[in-house]
Amino acid sequence: MTHESRDAIESLFQENRLFAPPQDFGRGSRMTPELYRALLAEAESDYEGFWARLARAELEWLTPFTRTLDASGAPHYRWFDDGTLNVSANCLDRHIAERGAKPAIIFEGEPGDVRVLTYRELLAEVSRFANALRAHGVKMGDRVIIYMPMVPEAVIAMQACARIGAIHSVVFGGFSSDSLKDRITDAQAVAVITADGGHRGGRVIGLKAICDKVLGDCPSVRTVFVLRRAGNEISWQEGRDVWWHDAVAGLSDSCPPVAVGAEHPLYLLYTSGSTGRPKGIQHSSAGYLLGTILTMRWVFDIREDDVYWCTADIGWVTGHSYVAYGPLACGATILMYEGAPMIPDPGRFWRLCERHGVTIFYTAPTAIRALKKHGDDYPRAYNLDKLRLLGSVGEPINPEAWMWFYRVIGQERCPIVDTWWQTETGVHMIAPIPGLTATKPGSCTRPLPGIAADVVDAAGEPVKAPDEGGFLVIKRPWPAMLRTIWGDAERYRETYWARFENRYYVSGDSARRDADGYFWVMGRVDDVLKVSGHRLGTMEIESVLGAHPQVAEAAVVGRPDDVTGEAICAFIVPRAALADSAARSVLGSDLRRWVADKIGPIARPAEIRFASNLPKTRSGKIMRRLLRAIARHETIDEDVSTLENPDIVRELKAPPE
Ligand code: PRX
Repeated sequence: MTHESRDAIESLFQENRLFAPPQDFGRGSRMTPELYRALLAEAESDYEGFWARLARAELEWLTPFTRTLDASGAPHYRWFDDGTLNVSANCLDRHIAERGAKPAIIFEGEPGDVRVLTYRELLAEVSRFANALRAHGVKMGDRVIIYMPMVPEAVIAMQACARIGAIHSVVFGGFSSDSLKDRITDAQAVAVITADGGHRGGRVIGLKAICDKVLGDCPSVRTVFVLRRAGNEISWQEGRDVWWHDAVAGLSDSCPPVAVGAEHPLYLLYTSGSTGRPKGIQHSSAGYLLGTILTMRWVFDIREDDVYWCTADIGWVTGHSYVAYGPLACGATILMYEGAPMIPDPGRFWRLCERHGVTIFYTAPTAIRALKKHGDDYPRAYNLDKLRLLGSVGEPINPEAWMWFYRVIGQERCPIVDTWWQTETGVHMIAPIPGLTATKPGSCTRPLPGIAADVVDAAGEPVKAPDEGGFLVIKRPWPAMLRTIWGDAERYRETYWARFENRYYVSGDSARRDADGYFWVMGRVDDVLKVSGHRLGTMEIESVLGAHPQVAEAAVVGRPDDVTGEAICAFIVPRAALADSAARSVLGSDLRRWVADKIGPIARPAEIRFASNLPKTRSGKIMRRLLRAIARHETIDEDVSTLENPDIVRELKAPPE
């Protein structure tokens, strides 16, 4: 373990409040104490049998599987691999008899337009668009990029790909054209599905125009499907671009789902790691879907009459597992909202909850903190009595935000499920069972049945004492786990398995477990930041900054922020000295714009500091620990005299621009 990760791992704090599950929550819940204990015991005594039984019970197979886990290519594990099924049929077709007229998606656009799609209507739309994809030559195994606003067609596009066995890769609408290009190129996508624009933050984001900037450099793309959403002007390339409504015109609303192998990739989702290049996390079909269904039941206690709202964008894994797949596979009614939480005012989320009768509300700590800042009057102005369960994901939730969520939004009636998981894990791994698990603000509590999470030291041994920090690892493969990094099996092994000789999946997080066995996630041990819950690699931002013509060297670190969790702080060594503060401010603005253009506005540094050099060891390594301390305004008590350039610390500590 490096010094830096040890520092992170040893910074402990204690939070001792314990909230017993509300007494009447369990009534009507699927998970009883007996069932929960039985699941834990079954997973312990017959691990493969446990997963096989659940896979048979929860999924509709076209060919039943006979093999549960194939570990022969470890760490490339295969689950249920001789079975076949179709994910879209498991999400839609199987509900038609019982729930054909039940709302599947209640949609509200940022301007306030509302649309409801029943399961029958959703299946028809998905089938029609699947036929359109086919008609344009998209085949099983082809990659399709989805770059869409949060509108029902985003889910329709994902489900349509699954229906014909095409592999989708959703790119978050807040990523820039360069990020989009990198993903199209890495995936060698044959088609892009986008919209003229989407409504966000009171503006129209011109998604098609962003695509147009780079499609000329993406020869693999033959077709661009364009949904008319915002009605903004767009440019058009005949022969390549096709309106969604024209593509589906006259096509049948029936499209038999194809049988794919259990291991067939359902999707790729690019995420940042500790190198400059995002990696395409590859998920499977059967194991992944099984995980989403089980966690919808265990953690969200999803019931027939719930109105379930997960605020995540489909560009993130949360929007895959807990918008597009899990809830539909469970036949639930979901709310989808296109826009920003503050439009037209900070009461928008609560108004949505009241208007649509939301019962389960799942969001990110950063949203909770941002809304909390606007006070209690906004939520108090709306009737939130239907809410029965609250959830949090994406970053550690600080106890203060947890308490506000619990008290003001949940009115001390709703349990909070703080769910720890990752793009790579596919689904919740450590999370409370509402109604059963007593919660502690800031802890994701205990691993779910079948999830062998542990905290280990640098030698890979489980830490001995309660509250001792270490690496958060998963000791057994699980069905919803990532299968590989698209096109880079070696990087998959290196990133997730090499640290402890392939014995455990290494999450990249540090954690401690308290005397009650509760997990407390402490943060990343690698160079990954969480800014507003979005995952960003410092190296990725550094390489973009370093490519600016006026930058000689750049280093990026995170510092705590009240709302966004972490904020990006960049240290820049310019090629030519900057004459005065006006020159610094011009370059500062230019660099912020540069990062927004190259990666996306989410990666824009909150703070830029200029210096003539960076603190380095004699061997030339940048001392990030010092940079972090400076960005956090901490006192630096360590001996800096061994640095190559000790005076630089004083210069860097000067107030930022
Ligand atoms: O550091 C952990 C943090 O988010 C990382 C995963 O990010 P991403 O792949 O973008 O997925 C986000 C949605 C699952 C983790 O390595 N994280 C996620 N959930 C929590 C969390 N940290 C603390 N508590 C959580 N509940």
